Amino acid sequence: MGKTLTVSDSWSRRDFLRSAAGGIAAGGASAVIPHPMRPLQPLPARSRWAAKPVAIASANGLRGVQKAFDMLMQGADTLDAVIEGVKIQELDPNDTTVGYGGLPNRDGVVQLDASCMHGPTKRAGAVGCLENIKTPSEVAKLVLKYTNHIFLVGEGAKKFALSYGFKEEDLLTPESRQAWLRWRANLNPEDDYLDVPETETMIVRPTGTINCSAVTPGGDLSSVTTTAGLAFKIPGRVGDSAVVGAGQYCDNEVGAAGSTGRGESNIKVCGGFLTVDNMRRGMKPTDACLESLKRVIATTEPRLLDARGRPKFGLIFYGVNKRGEFGAASLYPGRYAAHDGTDAKLHDTAHVFEQT
Ligand code: GLY
Repeated sequence: MGKTLTVSDSWSRRDFLRSAAGGIAAGGASAVIPHPMRPLQPLPARSRWAAKPVAIASANGLRGVQKAFDMLMQGADTLDAVIEGVKIQELDPNDTTVGYGGLPNRDGVVQLDASCMHGPTKRAGAVGCLENIKTPSEVAKLVLKYTNHIFLVGEGAKKFALSYGFKEEDLLTPESRQAWLRWRANLNPEDDYLDVPETETMIVRPTGTINCSAVTPGGDLSSVTTTAGLAFKIPGRVGDSAVVGAGQYCDNEVGAAGSTGRGESNIKVCGGFLTVDNMRRGMKPTDACLESLKRVIATTEPRLLDARGRPKFGLIFYGVNKRGEFGAASLYPGRYAAHDGTDAKLHDTAHVFEQT
């Protein structure tokens, strides 16, 4: 993990220049951040900050919030900061839920989804079922920045990425290929694949994702969500992460929100939008997230409820408002990552149900 930054009254133009010289701006922001939304800008004087700068993410985003927060303090654009934050997970072969090393679909093909929104320009971008490109969050940002569209999928999304110089790569790691082969072998005892003994059966986390939102000292917001989606999904399945308004949403006048967990249950309530709208009506971020979960429970089909009427899946909402207040809520106890100026750490989510 990178160094912890403490927000103090002493952040000034001098600090900015010193930080930029030794930090991300060595050689200029664009040398490090591909296609930046804007160059680095000096931070306003502390007394003129409109917001407490914050980066918030799902629990796998501890390194991501550190990176994003460091970039905010170096004067980076809010979307550039959150994209660079989530890219850490996308490029990490050990995170089997996102990007490179993400668990594949039923056919052994990794198909990635991502979406993002940029508060200051009111723009959105998304990709679905993107194959062979490690960082779908960056491709979503290019859709946002360079097209008149919002959502590109499949082959078209890949060709679009290749046209900007992205490299086509095999996203299966030896471990994720093993996981898929074992899943296929144990799928049906009647088929021609011999089952793998119980003792060798791997534990698979069925879904995983990273959402990250940030607010700059100037009060500008962005959000991004990226995922490999449901492990061993039906080819072509797109979850909530790619859906603007579900996997994430951002309104620069109000706040930003995102989600991880069972995408189908989030899409039905447009949870990213709903959570921001709850904040628009005056709720604090944690209450806004809890309110969205109530809608999720109310719209859950009986087949997905247990005998006590509780959802048989997990879902978490994360929210931050324009002042830099933040929070998260989950159906069952969970955690999330945030950097609020003191350090990057995990926090407990508010939750609706106790784990049994
Ligand atoms: N939330 C990630 C997915 O369902 O694909």
